[in-house]
Amino acid sequence: MHKLDEIRLAVIGLGYVGLPLAVEFGKYRTVVGFDINQARIEALKAGHDATLEVSDEELKEATQLRFSTQLNDLAECNIFIVTVPTPIDGHKKPDLTPLIKASQTIGEVLKKGDIVIYESTVYPGATEEDCVPVLERISGLKFNIDFFAGYSPERINPGDKEHRVTTIKKVTSGSTPEVAELIDSLYRQIITAGTHKASSIKVAEAAKVIENTQRDLNIALINELALIFNKMGIDTEAVLQAAGTKWNFLPFRPGLVGGHCIGVDPYYLTHKAESIGYHPEIILAGRRLNDSMGAYVVSQLVKAMLKRRIHVDGARVLVMGLTFKENCPDLRNTKVVDIIRELADYNIKVDVYDPWVSLEEAQHEYGITPVAEPANGAYDGIILAVAHGQFNSLGAASIRRLGKAEHVLYDLKYLLSAEESDLRL
Ligand SMILES: NC(=O)c1ccc[n+]([C@@H]2O[C@H](COP(=O)([O-])OP(=O)(O)OC[C@H]3O[C@@H](n4cnc5c(N)ncnc54)[C@H](O)[C@@H]3O)[C@@H](O)[C@H]2O)c1
Repeated sequence: MHKLDEIRLAVIGLGYVGLPLAVEFGKYRTVVGFDINQARIEALKAGHDATLEVSDEELKEATQLRFSTQLNDLAECNIFIVTVPTPIDGHKKPDLTPLIKASQTIGEVLKKGDIVIYESTVYPGATEEDCVPVLERISGLKFNIDFFAGYSPERINPGDKEHRVTTIKKVTSGSTPEVAELIDSLYRQIITAGTHKASSIKVAEAAKVIENTQRDLNIALINELALIFNKMGIDTEAVLQAAGTKWNFLPFRPGLVGGHCIGVDPYYLTHKAESIGYHPEIILAGRRLNDSMGAYVVSQLVKAMLKRRIHVDGARVLVMGLTFKENCPDLRNTKVVDIIRELADYNIKVDVYDPWVSLEEAQHEYGITPVAEPANGAYDGIILAVAHGQFNSLGAASIRRLGKAEHVLYDLKYLLSAEESDLRL
C-alpha cells in the first residue's frame, strides 16, 4: 500500500468538480490535471478558469499542478481521481459514456498497486459493476489484487463562495479497509471540514444520489403546494414563512429545478431501481412535477396579462436570468429555457438578459442570444427568473422602468416583496 508521500495524483476531468480539487491538492503535492478538452487545458495553462470556480490567483497557488491532454503524462501517476460528467440521455437514462471512456484511458496506464477513485455522481453499483470491469479488461490486472478502487462524492455548489471543496465534509470509501483508510487520509490532507468514511463504495454512491433526490423531492412538494395556493389566491411565500417558524419545517422554496445535478441525479437512482425490478413512484412524480414548472410559470404570466387586457400575441417579455442558478455562469440544463420556449409558443417576443452568461455559449447551447442591455419602457411582461446579485441590487423601481406603462412583473425568486411584484410563484 502506498504511503501518503508516495502518492502521485491524477485528476481526470477538470470541470466544476475536478479543477477545484486538483488546485487544492496541487498546493501540496504533484498533480496531473488531465482533460480531453484541449481548449479547456489551454485556458487553464494560460491561468484562467472559465467556470469562475477558481480565481486566477488561486490557480497560481497550485504550484505543483500541471495540465495535460496527453496519456503519457498519466503513466507516472498511482492514484487517479475521476471527475467526468454523468449526464442523462434524451430518454432520461444514465449516459455512462464519459465515465467508461475515462476508465478506458486509466486502464491504459494502470499499474500494480494503483487506486482509482470515482467522484462523479452515479447510482449504487456503478463503480464496481460498470467501471471496474473496464479497468480490468483494458489493463489486464485483477481488481482488489493488483489494483483498487474508491468512491468519494463531491458536494460543491457552483457559485457558492462559502461552501467550497475544502469546507464541505467529504464522504470517502474504498474497495478494501486499507484502501478506504488511505483514501480517507488523502482527502483529510485538504478537507478542513473533515471526512466521513463510509462502510462501502455502494454506501458512498447511494449517499450522494439520495442527497440530491431528497432535495429534488422537497422542492417538488413545495412546487405542488404553490400550485394549490396559487389556485386559492393564497401567497405561498407568506405560508412558508409562517410554517417556517416551526423548528422542524424545512426551508425549501418553489422554483425551477435545472442544472446537471438535482434534476438529473434522481434518474440515476430510478434507472438502477427499475433494473432490479422496483418501479419508483414518488421520485418520478417529483421529477415530472418539477419538469413542468416552466410551462406553469408562463400560463400564470399569460393569465395575468390577459386580466390586464395586455395583448398576448406579439407581446414583448423580458426574462431576467438564463443560468440554472444565481451568481454563476453555468447554463447546463437550465429550465429558464422551458419558459422561453413556452413564451415563444404564445407568439410572445422574448428578450433574455443575463450579465453572467457567455453570449456564444447561450447561442451554441440553446440558439438564444441574450441582449446586452434590456430596453427601457419596452416590455409587457418581466420575469425575474434567476436571483443574481445584480438583479437583487437593481430593486423593484429600476426593474419596473423596463416595463411599459401597463405590464406584469413576475418574481419567481422572491427577490422583491409581495407588494413590489404582481405575481410570485
Ligand atoms: N458541478 C457540480 O455542482 C457538481 C457537484 C457535485 C457533483 N457533481 C458531479 O461531478 C461530475 C463532474 O461534474 P462537473 O460539473 O465537474 O462536469 P463538467 O462538465 O464541468 O466537467 C467535466 C470535465 O470532464 C472532461 N471530460 C469529459 N470526458 C472526459 C474523459 N473521458 N477524460 C477526461 N476528461 C473528460 C470534460 O472535458 C470537462 O472538462 C458529475 O458526475 C456531476 O454530476 C457536480
